[in-house]
Amino acid sequence: MLSVKNLSKKYNWKNENGKRVTVTAVNSVSFNIVENQTYSLVGESGSGKSTLARLIMRLEEPTAGDILLDNINLSKMSRQELRKKRAEFQMVMQDGQGSLNPQMTIYDIIVEPIKNFLSLSRTEEQRRVQELATQVELPLQVLSRLPHQLSGGQQKRVCIARAISINPRLIVFDEVASGLDTTIKKKVLDLLLRLRQQISSSYLFITHDIDVAVYMAKNIMVMKDGMIVESIEGLKSFADFQHEYSKMLIQFLPPKSPENR
Ligand SMILES: Nc1ncnc2c1ncn2[C@@H]1O[C@H](COP(=O)(O)OP(=O)(O)OP(=O)(O)O)[C@@H](O)[C@H]1O
Ligand SMILES: [Mg+2]
Repeated sequence: MLSVKNLSKKYNWKNENGKRVTVTAVNSVSFNIVENQTYSLVGESGSGKSTLARLIMRLEEPTAGDILLDNINLSKMSRQELRKKRAEFQMVMQDGQGSLNPQMTIYDIIVEPIKNFLSLSRTEEQRRVQELATQVELPLQVLSRLPHQLSGGQQKRVCIARAISINPRLIVFDEVASGLDTTIKKKVLDLLLRLRQQISSSYLFITHDIDVAVYMAKNIMVMKDGMIVESIEGLKSFADFQHEYSKMLIQFLPPKSPENR
């Protein structure tokens, strides 16, 4: 479905001494995302995960490389075509609260993509929003509230409801559970695993925690310094990781891992 070829992103700026500085956030990355499959992308902070996600979502232009969707190069698509394709790709941003408009009610936030991309009647829209709230286990009373009146876990659920609202083909979850306390984090991850059974999309989970990566998917990409250093399909256990960097990430795990959960 989605094919990424030698994708790179460099950022240039001038430092305080006026010297030009370049960071290669994503360095010649290639991978394929197949329909209805689940992937985890794991790497330390600063390894380029969010940048890669923004490139896939076309929120930023790559410095080099190609993104092909159904074998069509996204850079060759017209604005109009791209807009239509955007509906097929949704992302839950790393900064959950920041991506929720503070002045909009939760109802208006969830209904926005539905209004933009589907033509439903008012009643159908309302029914869909209620159905989504139930799916992500949000009490219906919160629909009339503003984002700051919700807990961190509830805000994440709003972002998830919004992302699944128009049945996208790919949903990218960037650090969806980080910043939440342990029990809430587990609840959000388990909700996503349940949704994965109900909604046939491809899922890309981005995390700095290899424990979470393994818990969420069997297809794992390990990213270091802007590069995918290891890519495993159908992972069975932590022992499948071969790259030294992956092993180091495992080594730094707290004692409890999914294998002895
Ligand atoms: N807009 C930008 N301008 C300049 N440099 C940037 C920009 N965005 C990211 N970077 C740099 O690119 C590198 C990768 O950043 P990125 O946010 O993609 O990492 P990440 O893996 O998502 O990290 P984290 O786990 O902390 O979210 C970092 O060195 C970062 O400082
Ligand atoms: Mg990030």
